[in-house]
Amino acid sequence: MRHFISTRELSAASIYRILSTAEEMRKHPALLSENYIAANLFFEPSTRTKMSFQIAEKKLGMESLDFQMEKSSMAKGESLYDTARTYEAIGADMLIVRHTCAHWYDELIDRTSIPVINAGAGTGEHPTQSMLDLLTIYQEFGTFEDLNVVIAGDIKHSRVARSNVYALVTLGANVYFAAAPGFEDDSLGIPYVSIDEACDMCDVLMLLRVQHERHTSASFHSFSYLANHGLTMEREQRMQRHAIVMHPAPVNRGVEIDTRLVECERSRIFKQMQNGVYTRMAIISILLNEWGVEHDNFAEKYQTIITRQ
Ligand code: CP
Repeated sequence: MRHFISTRELSAASIYRILSTAEEMRKHPALLSENYIAANLFFEPSTRTKMSFQIAEKKLGMESLDFQMEKSSMAKGESLYDTARTYEAIGADMLIVRHTCAHWYDELIDRTSIPVINAGAGTGEHPTQSMLDLLTIYQEFGTFEDLNVVIAGDIKHSRVARSNVYALVTLGANVYFAAAPGFEDDSLGIPYVSIDEACDMCDVLMLLRVQHERHTSASFHSFSYLANHGLTMEREQRMQRHAIVMHPAPVNRGVEIDTRLVECERSRIFKQMQNGVYTRMAIISILLNEWGVEHDNFAEKYQTIITRQ
């Protein structure tokens, strides 16, 4: 794993390595052996991903370089490639990039000599979100085999759905979609259920944000969306006792989910955010290790792979 771009090519062993490393990071955090520098290049708004990368970097003893597009030379027309190469030239050891384009990384990988992490690529993939989602599921159930996971909401515009489908299928989960008309994506070959069927049968209900900023039509009614396609109080009551509710956030309260359920007993939404820090620590450490950077006690503490598959 030279870069962390997509969950599509990740083996079950690679995923379990990330999850077990993240669990170790949670229990026994350790600094990297040197003061490495991460450049966080965010071209789209972010709270959770950007801040949890910064906290992960801090916990690993790294320096974080921030970036503001409008105050950078990109405002003078500099390309993403030249910007990335500049950060590399001045001493960044790793690039963490979020961008509106679904394939922004095509112009960087194989052309940089430092690791690159995808922190969100348009409507393409969001692989670090997927890893923190998987850690949350694993902490709950201890397995992915035959779990019924329903991903519900704005599938069409969701990079979270795509990354999670690839990873969950690799790990043996039964994945279903539930979507309002116009929000479907048939390219992934995932079967659809209604939101009512989803609530009756799921172990994990993974809600997605309605991504207004990626819609071309303005004809959206939040009240009827919740009633027809969201998690209402009535639907939550019908879920199995052990079933959990997830959402990558930010949440449109009262749209995908009744606001009273955001912090209900089944909700793991804030747990997901907490897991984001450990998961990102794990991904950074594993990548640096792959690139030959020695981590204090890395081999002993963080190389363990859960061999369940
Ligand atoms: N889940 C997620 O990517 O949130 P942010 O957009 O706040 O980073």
